[in-house]
Formats: sequence, C-alpha cells, structure tokens
Amino acid sequence: MAHPINFGIIGCGDAAIFHITAFKRKVQEKLEFVAAHDINSRTLKRFSRAHKLQPYMKLQDLLESDIDAVLVSVPHYLHEEIVMKAANAGKHVLCEKPMARTLEGCDAMIQATQAAGVKFMIAENHRFLPAHQCIKDFIDDGLLGDIFLIRSYEGAYCDPKQFLNPESWHFCYKEGGGGVVADQGVHKFSTINWLLNDSVDSITCWIGKAYDSPNNKGEDNAIILVKYRRGTMVEITLSSTTLHPLTNKIELHGTKGTIFEDHSWEKPVQIYSNHPNAEEVGKFFTPDVEHGPFPQYYLISAFYEDMHFAECILEDREPDFTPLHAKDAVSGVLLSYLAAKEGKRIHMEDLINFANENDTELIFQNLDDAIQKNYTELKLDF
Ligand SMILES: NC(=O)c1ccc[n+]([C@@H]2O[C@H](COP(=O)([O-])OP(=O)(O)OC[C@H]3O[C@@H](n4cnc5c(N)ncnc54)[C@H](O)[C@@H]3O)[C@@H](O)[C@H]2O)c1
Repeated sequence: MAHPINFGIIGCGDAAIFHITAFKRKVQEKLEFVAAHDINSRTLKRFSRAHKLQPYMKLQDLLESDIDAVLVSVPHYLHEEIVMKAANAGKHVLCEKPMARTLEGCDAMIQATQAAGVKFMIAENHRFLPAHQCIKDFIDDGLLGDIFLIRSYEGAYCDPKQFLNPESWHFCYKEGGGGVVADQGVHKFSTINWLLNDSVDSITCWIGKAYDSPNNKGEDNAIILVKYRRGTMVEITLSSTTLHPLTNKIELHGTKGTIFEDHSWEKPVQIYSNHPNAEEVGKFFTPDVEHGPFPQYYLISAFYEDMHFAECILEDREPDFTPLHAKDAVSGVLLSYLAAKEGKRIHMEDLINFANENDTELIFQNLDDAIQKNYTELKLDF
C-alpha cells in the first residue's frame, strides 16, 4: 500500500483532539488524518476547519470516500455499530477503548473485521506509552524476577457535569458501559495483563460514588483486588473525582527488584534491582524515557499507538495489541462488576459460565445497588 495511510475520524470530541494533535508534534510520512464525520454538524465544522480535514455530514459518504482507515472515537455504546459499518465498507479500523460494553459486542466486532479482512485494533494508548514499554523491557530482561505484588492507580478529574447531567453519555450504564471501572479500569487490565504476560484468575471489587449522580450513571470511584493466574496480587485503585491533573501510577515488586512509576514525574520510571544486569545494582536507577506529565503523555502514547496501527497496515501484519487482548480487558471490567454485585471474590470461570447462559448486558442490571453512596457525608467543592 502506498504511503501514507489516510484516516477518517468518526467522532470529533476530546479523544479525537488528542489523536490529531499528537501528529502535529512530529514529522512522519506513514499516517495522515484527511477526513472527518461527526453527528453534530457544528462540532464537525469546527473540528474539520481547525485541522484541515474534509468534512462528511453522512457517515456513509465518509465510508465511500477513498480513505484507507478510520479512527472510531464515539461514545462506547456506538463502537460496535460503527466498527461493523466501517469494516463492511472495507476500511481498516482503529477504535477507541473500551472495545465494547459487553462480551457479545466484542465478539461481533472481531467477527465483522475478520470477515471483512481488515486490520482492527483498539486504541489502548497505555499499551504504547514509552514508560510502560520501558517497564515491560525491564521485566522481560528479568530485572524484577518473579513479580508477586502490584499496586496501581489512575486519578482523573472529570467535569462534574459528565456525572451529574443524565443526558451526558459519560459513565452511563447504557451508553458508557458503567463508570470509572469501564472507562479507566479497562486501561489497567490491558496494561497489567501485558506486563505480567498473564491473565486474571479472580477479582474482588468495591465501587462507590462521591458525586450524587443520577441512577443511570455508574460509580466514580473503585478499588479492585485481582489475583492473576500465576498468583500475583494486584490492587487497582480508580477515581474520576480527584482534583489533581490526570495521572497514573504503578508499583511492581518482584523477587529481584521493584519499579515505581508515576506519570506526573518528568522521569516517570524508577527501578531498584539486585539483578547482575541492572544498570545500578542495589540502587535506584532512573532511565531516560520519552515522557511528560498530562497532557503530554497522552499525545506521546497516541502518536506511537496510531503509528503502530498504520505500520501494521503498511506491512500487512497483526497489531501487537490484538482484539483478543482488548476483549480480555473488557472481561476484567465485567468480572469486576459481577464481583461488586456478588459482594465477594469471583473467578473468571464464573464470568465465562455467566456469559454462556446470559447476555453480559444483564451484569448492568441492579449494579447501582452495589454502589456505596458516599456523597451524603461529603462536601464537594463545585
Ligand atoms: N485513550 C484515552 O485515554 C481516552 C481519553 C478520552 C476518551 N477516550 C475514548 O474516546 C471515545 C470518545 O470519547 P470522548 O471523550 O472523545 O467523547 P466526546 O463526548 O468528547 O466525543 C464524542 C464525539 O462523538 C460524536 N458522536 C456521537 N454520536 C455519534 C454518531 N452516531 N456518529 C458520529 N459521531 C457521533 C459526538 O458528537 C462527539 O463529538 C470513548 O471511547 C472514550 O472512552 C479515550
């Protein structure tokens, strides 16, 4: 295929801005954003003008144009329908996370893209962040030994309107597929499954609300305890109501070393290792990694993610982050919700059995009853 891969953007909101801005920072010849579609004509006009894109008011017209690929960046409940339409039109598909709200949605997207013979990747930017690749390389080089314990955190300040406005799709069960676990937790499952090269065995999950949001909205805070198959104990703490700028942290402890990582640090990774191949044996070492606190790390990760997908199209190879990896991350989210509802530790086999007998959409039914409502005791400052 001739360079560059021409992309059309479907959904011109916040995430689309990150993707397109990421490519203004660096010279490259493999990928170009050339066209856009949004259901909101004012948004489409503004976005297309700002980024010099060909606007398409009708999705079908965009899909019939001579673009090679699409970036799907719409609310979660629309991922499945739009990915399938794009695949049926013969376009390669990069779709924002989470893959889908349900396991059935994931399967339908996988089948449609396979049947159409197009490349398909979920835009899981955490998989392409240089700081995470650095950690992965240290792990694969044996510098941590066997990892027995992980603590991880994502804290994001989300506009309270997204929670409090019942019309906004964000964090809704129906349109968003749940709250902070679906929206932010999915990054953690994608990243930790990959770092450990392991899969989830079982989960305990505690979900809460700090905001007095309507009943159609999911949790805004969560603590998830995960046992991986090889026994690693993992804590995932998530919040959408913390005031500081968006950040992530992960701590990994192994038999030969420890890594502390914090996305709000200029140099985000610190490693302490006793392995003879460590840069500084028995001392903290801070490698140079391409990084910058939010929003820079979003732009950096989006750049590498989108470039990887374009290269997979150009070189006719499968993306490193496969659709099955993305589906596994959605399984982590749904298992967390099932565990929250049951109020006890639940195994992945329980989710598989549930999915064999039910539509996983049913997991959202009465999920609100499992949410601890904290807001009666909180004085929120907005
Ligand atoms: N990787 C990340 O960290 C990250 C960050 C933000 C958002 N996201 C993801 O990006 C996706 C979009 O989120 P967002 O925050 O940009 O949302 P948003 O609400 O800011 O933007 C969504 C856009 O889609 C448009 N839209 C709605 N229905 C449409 C339809 N039927 N056809 C075409 N356009 C339609 C809306 O008009 C809006 O402009 C979600 O999957 C979200 O999880 C990922």
